[in-house]
Amino acid sequence: MTMHRDAVRRAWDAVADDYAAKRRADGEDAALIEDLLADLPADARVLDVGCGDGQRTLTNLVGAADALGLDFSRRQLELARGAAPDARLVQADMTALPVADGAVDAITAYHAVFHVSRSQHPAVYEEFARVLAPGGRLLMTVGAGRSDATRRNWLDSGHAMYWSTPGRRATVSQLDEAGFDVVWERFVDDPLGSQALFVLAERRP
Ligand SMILES: C[S@@+](CC[C@H](N)C(=O)[O-])C[C@H]1O[C@@H](n2cnc3c(N)ncnc32)[C@H](O)[C@@H]1O
Repeated sequence: MTMHRDAVRRAWDAVADDYAAKRRADGEDAALIEDLLADLPADARVLDVGCGDGQRTLTNLVGAADALGLDFSRRQLELARGAAPDARLVQADMTALPVADGAVDAITAYHAVFHVSRSQHPAVYEEFARVLAPGGRLLMTVGAGRSDATRRNWLDSGHAMYWSTPGRRATVSQLDEAGFDVVWERFVDDPLGSQALFVLAERRP
């Protein structure tokens, strides 16, 4: 059942510290950022959507790119400020990015879009396409199966958390409709102990 966006934001404020304690800056999914950066120009502008505490993504982007971290959770942004002091940060919702059209060369969105109701995913991908320059790249985690569920007491935090995804095939179709070509889909180790599906997509010129 859909969990309201404000409730998801409050949940992230509440679980941010526990989640950060379970995350590191390295690992198979973090290494994908090196591949992304290798294909980008020097000083590329990279928007990290749902940056969270910054350990997984921003710390691997700063120094190699002009990184902007975006998250709607104030506590996550406080942790990101500590982890990646040189990154620019903004508090915003990924369904309405405070970024100009065509202003970024790449977007990373790790373990983030599936915390938004799947009914909103097409709007999120349209926003991603809007802010990316033609040929810009999107590297993101995708929910492999269909789900729309709330898990109580996530990470023994006492707070509920929400995941929502239409599944792999529908997501690839939504990306296509938003103007992306999928370059690859790949399962990689997830730092919380399972496997996560990642997609690299390119915005059509
Ligand atoms: C699972 S965490 C992942 C954090 C980070 N990307 C990582 O991989 O470590 C998901 C993040 O997405 C953020 N988020 C969820 N829904 C959002 C929304 N609608 N707009 C902006 N951020 C959102 C949460 O606050 C949280 O920080």
